[in-house]
Amino acid sequence: MQQLKRLGKMNIGSLHIKGHTFLAPLAGITNLPFRLMVKSCGCSVVCSEMISARGMFYNQAKTMKLLATDPLERPLSVQLFGADTPSITRAAKMIEEMQIADMIDINFGCSVRKVVKTGAGVALMKTPGVAEHMLKGLRDTVSLPLSIKIRSGWDATGNQAFEIAHIAQNAGIDAIAFHPRTATQGFGGKADWSLIRKLKQICDIPVIGNGDIKSPEDAFHMIEQTHCDAVMVGRASLSNPFLPSQIDQLINAGTYTSPDTDDIFQKMIELTQAYVSHFGEQVGCKMLRGRLSWFVRGWPNSSLFRKRLSQIRSKHETLSLIQSFKADLHG
Ligand SMILES: Cc1cc2nc3c(=O)[nH]c(=O)nc-3n(C[C@H](O)[C@H](O)[C@H](O)COP(=O)(O)O)c2cc1C
Repeated sequence: MQQLKRLGKMNIGSLHIKGHTFLAPLAGITNLPFRLMVKSCGCSVVCSEMISARGMFYNQAKTMKLLATDPLERPLSVQLFGADTPSITRAAKMIEEMQIADMIDINFGCSVRKVVKTGAGVALMKTPGVAEHMLKGLRDTVSLPLSIKIRSGWDATGNQAFEIAHIAQNAGIDAIAFHPRTATQGFGGKADWSLIRKLKQICDIPVIGNGDIKSPEDAFHMIEQTHCDAVMVGRASLSNPFLPSQIDQLINAGTYTSPDTDDIFQKMIELTQAYVSHFGEQVGCKMLRGRLSWFVRGWPNSSLFRKRLSQIRSKHETLSLIQSFKADLHG
């Protein structure tokens, strides 16, 4: 595959980025241990789960825990969601003052009922006046680079993205991450990459393409077809945390290396240790049941491993299970 020579150095406002890959914000998944793992595999920029601006305002313990970060994961994008200018600007200011992030992303895409009914997430795409007020307020309040993450639209016409992008650019927002599915689509159907191309044609700020990238080749095709400036990988990073790094290799060198099973087992061990130390043994192991099973999808005899995984309760049990699966696999 050819190298993509057209992709130059990537800047988001004052932030210089090495590479062209972003880990997508995934609620309940892109917590600190997960981000550190993906970063250690070579992703350019990782993004936090969405964090409630109001939760920060009320200093809610659950929200504040989501703000745990580590210098090793930088550059880091922290994503906020909220429906009103005062709470979102205050939260952004707090993040800037805490010096924990290199950029702040505002969620314009979440279609979960609980979020939408407050006027946040994708609901902002049907209230351009509110969106404009919020984005201008943010720009006036913080100097950190700002991005928004949008869907194609609120309803089936799916063309609110262009209006919101226009507003964002005029308000001084530095980049747009674009997942071209409508709110009604949720995660069904296919992401319409032709809309990324269209957005790129009307935007002067960087456009980060997102949706349905499952392989380095998919990312290559997205960049070729849409001319987006970078790509964002979500669900596929669950089974292959090396994917962003493979994409950067393909962009730069026209080829990429694939992790072998030992590399994957090593990441599973590291993730187990990190989850237990971050969340505690009981909660960490419960979360690992789902997380670790993604790594071995499609591997021989993985169903037995997954079955046993669903009962793990301790770090020791988890590590032994990984080691025995590894030994069985290497026969
Ligand atoms: C479990 C899950 C959680 C998500 N959480 C968020 C979130 O917190 N903020 C956000 O902007 N998008 C969120 N998304 C959307 C993803 O960031 C991404 O736009 C979408 O999954 C499409 O990319 P993909 O095909 O690479 O997964 C979430 C998606 C999933 C599946």
